Amino acid sequence: MANDHNQDLDRVLLTADQIAARVKQLAPEVLAGFEEEPGSTPEITPVPIMTGAFIFAADLIRQLPQKMQIHLMHASSYAGTATRTTAADPSQVKIDATLSNVPDDLTGRHVLVIDDILDSGHTLAAVTANLKQRNPAGLKTCVLLRKQRDAALDFPIDHVAFDIPDEFVVGYGLDYDGYYRNLPHIGVLSQAAIDAHR
Ligand code: IMP
Ligand code: MG
Repeated sequence: MANDHNQDLDRVLLTADQIAARVKQLAPEVLAGFEEEPGSTPEITPVPIMTGAFIFAADLIRQLPQKMQIHLMHASSYAGTATRTTAADPSQVKIDATLSNVPDDLTGRHVLVIDDILDSGHTLAAVTANLKQRNPAGLKTCVLLRKQRDAALDFPIDHVAFDIPDEFVVGYGLDYDGYYRNLPHIGVLSQAAIDAHR
């Protein structure tokens, strides 16, 4: 098909079936992480980080039948629109209050931050610092992907669906310059496609 996003992939890293199976397995692990005593989980408040986490979060929360309220947080890097990755440091991460609907006061809430990928860790550092100021009773972090690089491996994170090589990936919510989020799988973007958007 002309214009097919798949033409820009070097290879598929994770198929839609592999992702679905892992998300299904991850849901009870995430719940167990909130248990204060065996079998008793408090009400959790998922906070998906927009925009990259929207598909992962949609699938993960539908594996959690518990009563819950979901709040969105919008985080982006100041580093420009076609950025390959990330902000140079945590102060470059912008949390957009007008696009977010997290209550100022999270007292008594058990927050689950859901993000697409852990790379430098700057996004999650900024997001968790922001949320902690709202006084949650608990805060856990969950990412779909973690890159095999020192910064990501050193960042403390509660739940990781997949560890992946240090390559630029797109699909299942992850973008390059806003594109590719609709792919049902996750693939490695070709260098030619990266260069074409520059
Ligand atoms: P960090 O702040 O460096 O941990 O990066 C997290 C953010 O960078 C993610 O939410 C993504 O928006 C972006 N990012 C990092 N690596 C990739 C990638 O391989 N593909 C797409 N986006 C990425
Ligand atoms: Mg993102």
